[in-house]
Amino acid sequence: MSDQVLIFDTTLRDGEQCPGASMNLREKMEVARQLARLNVDIIEAGFPVISDGDFHAVQQIATEVRGPIIAGLARCTAKDIDAAAAAVKPAGDRGRVHVFLATSKIHREHKLKKAHDEILRLAVEGVKRARGLVRDVEFSPEDASRTEPEFLAQITQAAIEVGATTINIPDTVGFAVPDQFAALVEYLFANVKNIADAVVSVHCHNDLGLAVANSLAAVRAGARQVEGTVNGIGERAGNAALEEVVMALRTRPEVFGNVTTGVNSREIVKSSRLISRMSGLLVPRSKAIVGENAFAHSSGIHQDGMLKNRSTYEIMDPHDVGWGETELPLTKHSGRHAMVKRLEHLGYALSAEETEHFFRRFKEVGDRKKFVYDDDLAALIEDISLGAPETYELEYFHVTSGTTTVPTATVRLRRNPATTGAAPDAEAEIFQDSAPGNGAVDAAMKAIDRILGRQGHLTEYHVQAVTGGKDALGEVTLKVDFGDGKLITGKGASTDVIEASARAYLHAVGRVLSLPAKPPAGEEVNTP
Ligand code: KIV
Ligand code: ZN
Repeated sequence: MSDQVLIFDTTLRDGEQCPGASMNLREKMEVARQLARLNVDIIEAGFPVISDGDFHAVQQIATEVRGPIIAGLARCTAKDIDAAAAAVKPAGDRGRVHVFLATSKIHREHKLKKAHDEILRLAVEGVKRARGLVRDVEFSPEDASRTEPEFLAQITQAAIEVGATTINIPDTVGFAVPDQFAALVEYLFANVKNIADAVVSVHCHNDLGLAVANSLAAVRAGARQVEGTVNGIGERAGNAALEEVVMALRTRPEVFGNVTTGVNSREIVKSSRLISRMSGLLVPRSKAIVGENAFAHSSGIHQDGMLKNRSTYEIMDPHDVGWGETELPLTKHSGRHAMVKRLEHLGYALSAEETEHFFRRFKEVGDRKKFVYDDDLAALIEDISLGAPETYELEYFHVTSGTTTVPTATVRLRRNPATTGAAPDAEAEIFQDSAPGNGAVDAAMKAIDRILGRQGHLTEYHVQAVTGGKDALGEVTLKVDFGDGKLITGKGASTDVIEASARAYLHAVGRVLSLPAKPPAGEEVNTP
């Protein structure tokens, strides 16, 4: 059995299914490039049949991202499988089709309304069809952990017989516990005759907070591929956090039979931050490996021990996961070249036009703030809407607020001619309006609503300081529902939190205008 555990990242598929975490093409490309630098083995880039936007994202990732295998998800239908194979085609031999079909009694009876033999037939047909199109086929019996083990073994064996190269065992609803899940994997090794012809993978959800523990137990039982997401993002309570799986295997090799992964762990923190920014899902401070406090020691006893010998209270070297990589901060005197170099280091590739735009914003912030750190740059990059065409730019705002006055805001916006189809040299349209609110932030957003003629309902609002210091940038992350029930994330940063809020709101507006359209009525796809 191989001593390498393959790391399968599904941040762009299962992770993106998290409400409010939708990313546009530009954001997905940034994430995929960073996952390649992290050196995961497989990137599940999306579910191509679900929409044109998903198809193009998978196709573009398959075209441009070198290194990892690029996978596209498909149900066991000809339409899904053909779409997934076509989308991953540009990756050549690195293209994988991931076919799934629910196998548990609950799903068979209530969701699919199909008997065992029908499910078996569909799985075999699906895997065969995929194998006719690509060499690398993964089969997932959805809800495997609640499937009768005998049927799971039967369908697994049949899928391998017709060409599945990876068999993935999903704990779809996070129901498993470690001993039982490991026993299920052992059962498959003992009862599936051709199991050695495929890689055994696991895919754990975190509903009971056990996704990482279950994945690690499965590795001990022989699984050699682990699926998960960076920061553990995903539907409901999320997926297994890959950074935790990777660092557990690396920190406790004696427990896991000295298996290794190919992950470049020094890219972990950078990946975590990028994905948090792109998905709008904040990382809790106390989150293992990537939370702000993961390596902070505040109690006197701990600090004393650390000063004497770091190993007293530290089981991993923070540098190994990419903490403390920040180099000299930039200042308002730094040039364009230095700024571009730092952005490249952070994983952002800007066009010439975007560089000019960003450089102006960088100088503006540099004038208000002594040092511009890596985290400031990353916050500002979202602020200038790199992920979406910037339809409206904030030209000016003014607020009056206080304990004895009705807070009122005046906002002036500039509409970018390039996003309205007008000639690039056409004069930009300027809009201005004012509105009262129950606070300065509320008033600023209401003024924007009046200009845009649409009403956003704010469902989440967070503000946090990007770095320490009184002149720190405030970064606002918010989620807005523009009336269709879809949550759109916006981010904005400024040394002034009202300005940051207005920018975040405009960022959400830009994103809602750039997100791919929903599938036509009747074509809704139920994602697993
Ligand atoms: O959770 C699940 O079962 C899935 C499958 C598609 C692998 O995401
Ligand atoms: Zn899943």
